[in-house]
Amino acid sequence: MTAELTVAPLAELRLRTSVKWRNYPEDVLPLFVAEMDYDLAPPVATALHAAISRSDTGYAPASAELGKAYAGFASRRWGWEVDPAQVTSVTDVGVGVIEVLRQRVRLGDVVAISPPVYPPFFDWAPEASARLLSVPLVAGRLDLPAIERAFATHPAAYVLSNPHNPVGRVHTFDELGALVRLARLYGVLLISDEIHAPLVLPGAVFTPLLSVPGAAEVAVAVVSASKAFNLAGLKCAAIVTASDRTAALVARMPAEVHERTGHLGVVASIAAFSSGDSWLDDLIFSLAARRDQLADLLATRLPAVRWTPPEATYLSWLDCSAWGGDGVPAARFLAEGRVAVEPGTRFGAAGAGFVRLNFATSPEILDEAVSRLAGVPTVEAG
Ligand SMILES: Cc1ncc(COP(=O)(O)O)c(C=O)c1O
Repeated sequence: MTAELTVAPLAELRLRTSVKWRNYPEDVLPLFVAEMDYDLAPPVATALHAAISRSDTGYAPASAELGKAYAGFASRRWGWEVDPAQVTSVTDVGVGVIEVLRQRVRLGDVVAISPPVYPPFFDWAPEASARLLSVPLVAGRLDLPAIERAFATHPAAYVLSNPHNPVGRVHTFDELGALVRLARLYGVLLISDEIHAPLVLPGAVFTPLLSVPGAAEVAVAVVSASKAFNLAGLKCAAIVTASDRTAALVARMPAEVHERTGHLGVVASIAAFSSGDSWLDDLIFSLAARRDQLADLLATRLPAVRWTPPEATYLSWLDCSAWGGDGVPAARFLAEGRVAVEPGTRFGAAGAGFVRLNFATSPEILDEAVSRLAGVPTVEAG
């Protein structure tokens, strides 16, 4: 039986010291960064408490346990059979993508991405000394003809958000199959950021990129428990490969890359992947309820917002151009409504007039946030 997760009262949430709770003054409702307001999953909390009580806060050992736990999770959740030996821990998803790019990119190479997309995607390629090529989404979907034109210029790699942050789209098996065919045809390495994969909501089906026929030789995935189990500060993710060719990229990385993983992150991730299923089911149930609630609230109190409810994640991508262009809606929501959301422009030029709102919170906070936004006049009304 699934049940909704509860959220602590606001005064208790404000005792948290992460960026979500410390970036803005106390009168601001923080619905910007991708952190959730739910309590930790009990198996994760238990594993962390046990580690703390052992004073077990040293370096992460090289261990097969994380790979085994992830392989079990992938098999149960998506029927995807992962070789635990091809799961390699890294500090976080960003580090995983950058280190794969470093093995692949030669000076001056190009790396393609599809905005609007998670803002660090714009920084990862330059950090690995590559130039960026944008192949924007069209109506929230991969633009496969444009991706083919881009791949024909032979970029070194394409970084995919699967599912896609911020639009919440779950790319279909057919879309990913087409992407794999293009990658094989033009010799482009696919790097699939699958951090949001455990957060696919009812109505959509997640396809792990590496499970697509032909993907193993041309793709790597970077995965983590950190988004679904709210563990971002613990610093643990993993690179997953499924062929000798892509495993060779990982084998060439300096050992330090793996040794920089947070030990408590590994402890928590093993607990999440091996014992977190029923809590995760409750989380998905709760997020689906918040998505429905947000749909009702927007329809009744903020009809000037246009959006497509996300198929995955707890992030909603809202066209708020009725409140102004560029980054103006987010700035006005903060200044006039005391609600912090991400300005769409952080996700690329296509985000002008959009905001990204995080709904992984209580019904009360979500209600209050929308009420506050409803008090900010649209440009026409003002
Ligand atoms: C698509 C995507 N990738 C990566 C991250 C961050 O992952 P990490 O902190 O492990 O680098 C996020 C965080 O929200 C994200 O949405």
